[in-house]
Amino acid sequence: MKIVVTGGLGFIGSHTVVELQNDGFEVVVIDNLSNSTEEVINGIVAITGKKPLFEKLDLREKAAVQDFFKRHDDVKGVIHFAASKAVGESVGNPLLYYENNINTLVYILQELEKKKVANFIFSSSCTVYGQAETMPINENSAVQTAMSPYGNTKQIGEEIITDVAKVTAINAILLRYFNPIGAHPSTEIGELPTGIPQNLVPFITQTAIGLRKELMVYGDDYPTSDGTCIRDYIHVVDLAKAHVVALQRLLNKNNLEKVEIFNLGTGVGSTVLEVIHAFEKISGQKLAYKIVDRREGDITSAYANTDKANSILGWKTKLTLEQGMESAWKWEQKVRAV
Ligand code: WQD
Repeated sequence: MKIVVTGGLGFIGSHTVVELQNDGFEVVVIDNLSNSTEEVINGIVAITGKKPLFEKLDLREKAAVQDFFKRHDDVKGVIHFAASKAVGESVGNPLLYYENNINTLVYILQELEKKKVANFIFSSSCTVYGQAETMPINENSAVQTAMSPYGNTKQIGEEIITDVAKVTAINAILLRYFNPIGAHPSTEIGELPTGIPQNLVPFITQTAIGLRKELMVYGDDYPTSDGTCIRDYIHVVDLAKAHVVALQRLLNKNNLEKVEIFNLGTGVGSTVLEVIHAFEKISGQKLAYKIVDRREGDITSAYANTDKANSILGWKTKLTLEQGMESAWKWEQKVRAV
């Protein structure tokens, strides 16, 4: 059964391709290589022994999207990762984000409607909740005014999909990721941040390997146990597996609503200092860091209520924060060893 994975050579996309192949699906990857490389295909093959079909395609080109779906008229589902995702960049360049994250979604949905492809999974984010009122965050928590154009594109994307699903054959599952970390235990694939990493864990591993002088901890005056922000760090392999489970749910169609939303997290919040200590424990080395001012736009706390994903998807995370840090560190050491 053929499944299209857009952004399939990216961090979460590539790990999802592996799990799809492990589950017997035929995968076609679309990627414009703006934030990934074709090398990632070799990593996928090294893990699964199967080479996914790959088409280098910019989904902003409507004609190219139409041509793709004309040629692949046996597609049974789409998992849509392809999007720009740097919060800070989106503030300075909103039109890049609205074009790349919204236009592309519309073009894909138009093809699914035409081809009557019913199964669509959308890569969304806990960022839609902003600073939620209560913790842990469940799927009924209010979607707050976005803190960035990037976050707004996820909210708008969810609204577009909801409107389209109401009047087409499309059934959609919106997956709201918390903070994905780590790498495949094989160290064949992992996160390849371009330039200076914006996210905590790649900055930690790049500091530890000597690429960065020290980690700046953005504030220790938050109302938390140690003053640093709380997030829900989910291992990317657990996250990838959730996509396969969600796809199977769409294909099985039992008690399916037109649009279903699931928070994907561990259900456990960890402070920045706890993440640093987890890294120091698994690596056996002290991390150079210093406390600096808060980062604009950061929220104090976000971690998931995982009841819905556990009960309806029958999915829950198996890997721990330490395993996430260990896999991220092993990956960093491998990537820098070349
Ligand atoms: C985590 C914590 C920082 C870097 C973002 C997006 C979200 C999703 C995940 C795409 C915060 C602190 C970080 C550093 C630090 N991306 N930190 N020093 O901001 O929770 O979420 O990435 O979907 O949409 O918003 O992740 O890793 O940037 O930060 O102290 O050098 O680590 O202040 O408390 P964030 P993050």
